[in-house]
Amino acid sequence: MPTRHAQEAIVLLARSAIAAAPLQEMERFRKLLAESQGRDVVVAFTEQGRPSLRDALVGLHRRGIATAVVIAMALPFEPSMVPSLTRSLKRWSAAGSPLPTVRLVPLLQRDDAALAALCAALDHAPVQLDPDGIKPAEGSLVPAQKRRVLVCMGGPCVAAGAETLWGHLRNEQDRLKLRARGDGTMSAKTSCLGPCNLAPVIQVWPEGTYYAGLDEHDLDRVIAEHLLAGRPVNDLAYEATGAKQVLRPRRL
Ligand code: FES
Repeated sequence: MPTRHAQEAIVLLARSAIAAAPLQEMERFRKLLAESQGRDVVVAFTEQGRPSLRDALVGLHRRGIATAVVIAMALPFEPSMVPSLTRSLKRWSAAGSPLPTVRLVPLLQRDDAALAALCAALDHAPVQLDPDGIKPAEGSLVPAQKRRVLVCMGGPCVAAGAETLWGHLRNEQDRLKLRARGDGTMSAKTSCLGPCNLAPVIQVWPEGTYYAGLDEHDLDRVIAEHLLAGRPVNDLAYEATGAKQVLRPRRL
């Protein structure tokens, strides 16, 4: 092993991998790199999967690794990953986790050839992340609004028109000044809310009421009756019953 790499390791960073096939692919890339680079190579995940990036970096530091070259494998590479990772490093260090210095490089294509090309440039391509260079953020108001409308943007809901529904909600929220009326309503897109076969699905808090199979007319009723008058719209709502449900027949 070349001595200048003795305190340097490579971290293969993916977004998430819990199924067998993506895990096997990560392990194959890890072995390829370990053989060609002659330095420690570990895998880590930014979302679901173990180890997390934090755990992987802490583990490397404990083993005396001074520099971690992180290869970002999530495609397409999001430039926001640089500030996001830098802030995470700062937070983890402030919480008392000593970490190696981190250098980041994106993999632009997820195949063996792209990995080989990246390896050839590995000594000069990565950007060093600088947690000490982060300026404190400006202040923000904590919203006083008590209501939230979550609009599911999972695949089945998008296929059922969730984006159009979202646009209608946002336009009405603006037109009717919903943030400032009643308990005040804010809205947010979410990942899957659960009952995908009832798409499109929204959920209104603080009651947690599920509404499903909505169109714009239905949403107008939810706005008028639930968000503004505080009465859930029972004929559009779906309650947890412990059994599978289908959409109720539509009115003509
Ligand atoms: S995708 Fe919307 S509820 Fe699952």
